[in-house]
Amino acid sequence: MDHIFIFDTTLRDGEQAPGASMTAEQKYEVALQLSRLGIDIIEAGFPISSPLQFKACEHIAKNLKGPVIAALARAIEKDIDIATEALSSAENSRIHTFIATSPIHMKYKLKKNPDEVIEMAVKAVKYARNKVQQVEFSAEDASRSDLDFLCKVFEKVIDAGATIINVPDTVGYAIPAEIGNIISTIRNNVSNIDKAIISVHCHNDLGLAVANTLAAIENGARQAEVTINGIGERAGNAAFEELIMALDVRKDRMPYKTNINTTQIYNTSRLISNLSGFEIPKNKPIVGENAFAHESGIHQDGVLKHRETYEIMTPASVGKGGGTNLVLGRHSGLHGFKSRVTELGFNLSEEENKNVYKKFLYIADRKKEVYDEDLMTLIIDELGMSNPTYKLEYFNIISGNKAVPTATIKIRHNDEVFEEAATGDGPVDAIFKAIERAIGTTAKLEEYKVQAVTPGKHAMGEVKVLITSNGNSATGRGSSTDILEASANAYVNALNKLLLLKGSNQ
Ligand code: KIV
Ligand code: ZN
Repeated sequence: MDHIFIFDTTLRDGEQAPGASMTAEQKYEVALQLSRLGIDIIEAGFPISSPLQFKACEHIAKNLKGPVIAALARAIEKDIDIATEALSSAENSRIHTFIATSPIHMKYKLKKNPDEVIEMAVKAVKYARNKVQQVEFSAEDASRSDLDFLCKVFEKVIDAGATIINVPDTVGYAIPAEIGNIISTIRNNVSNIDKAIISVHCHNDLGLAVANTLAAIENGARQAEVTINGIGERAGNAAFEELIMALDVRKDRMPYKTNINTTQIYNTSRLISNLSGFEIPKNKPIVGENAFAHESGIHQDGVLKHRETYEIMTPASVGKGGGTNLVLGRHSGLHGFKSRVTELGFNLSEEENKNVYKKFLYIADRKKEVYDEDLMTLIIDELGMSNPTYKLEYFNIISGNKAVPTATIKIRHNDEVFEEAATGDGPVDAIFKAIERAIGTTAKLEEYKVQAVTPGKHAMGEVKVLITSNGNSATGRGSSTDILEASANAYVNALNKLLLLKGSNQ
């Protein structure tokens, strides 16, 4: 069976989606989970683009052993130098350099002729090849490029030392037959193609990213570039979970091998959704809430009689327990708690374990039953909050249909504590205003969502907010059995991220 290398770009292309930015610590948590999932190559970021991107890339490269760590660089020496520096401690490193090859991009964006583009591409690959273990070259907007020219570019960059050549459908314009033809033309016409792996990178503007990726694989691509939950620019990238399960479920037609542990899919999807703030639609294949739910009587009857009548894969195969597993009780010790956390696929540090355990005890006191879903929410909360700049210590709300909603809060920043009070149009508005006063910043609330994590009156509430300020956007989340507390934590979480973003852009 041919091996398909899975290149995950959630931390680079995925994070380019507006509002999806994560802190360096959060990115490291994601990278750890990607390596548990079995990803071969993790694109950790675009180091030249901001100090935050650089820091996250450097941290992942230094601390995560196993997968290849890739960093993006334009075909410019300065970009390659910064990417090299960010990757300097990586066990396995790759520079991913790119330049556009389509007539429209060369003429209007780069203002270069085709020969100049080839020269830049070759120069960049030669410059990068002795700095890291592997060099990948991407022909941006490949699917709208002249095919003869594309083959010529690839031949030259392979001669210059690229061992992976990537075919991006940058604007999600291609259809499967077209992508298939591009890949087979490259295979048949690039004379030195045996020295490189062909990769494919599809965007989802027409909803064809996964279909195009499969067509590329069937025509000889052996690396697929994807993001978890398909997050990314505009309509996103090829969704990892859809591609992997298509390959898994239809191995009769597509006999390819990957290193992916499919039972880690559900956890990973939830982690990314929570850290990036990108919600998973209910009907999203593989990881959506309804992906395994059978509503119609005929379907339910069929499934009960013989599961395969309406189910082509099991929830367990993607690590979905159903959200109804009773976890632990109030009296479960730290030991039992830790092993459940590990069973759920998380690898927390001692400190993180202790923090989550504390929150678990707090929840177990208020809620009769604590489910896996609750526990996952608490864990993800903790991962999302690592090293917060500002931390909510206390809040009090006075509200009622005849009272002016008033919030009092206490926020800690290292050794300093800020106390503030504010009134608002409602309790949430009052608490957000008090937080802004305490932190000394303001932001526009674009989205506010609250939902129950599990069923029942005692359910834990999860709040997600999206805020913007001066062109930056950030999402935040918080969870608690008290939705006002969850709201306050979500807002502080988002403001922390926004402050980090502002700092890194300066
Ligand atoms: O979509 C694209 O063209 C890219 C490249 C940088 C690979 O993300
Ligand atoms: Zn892309």
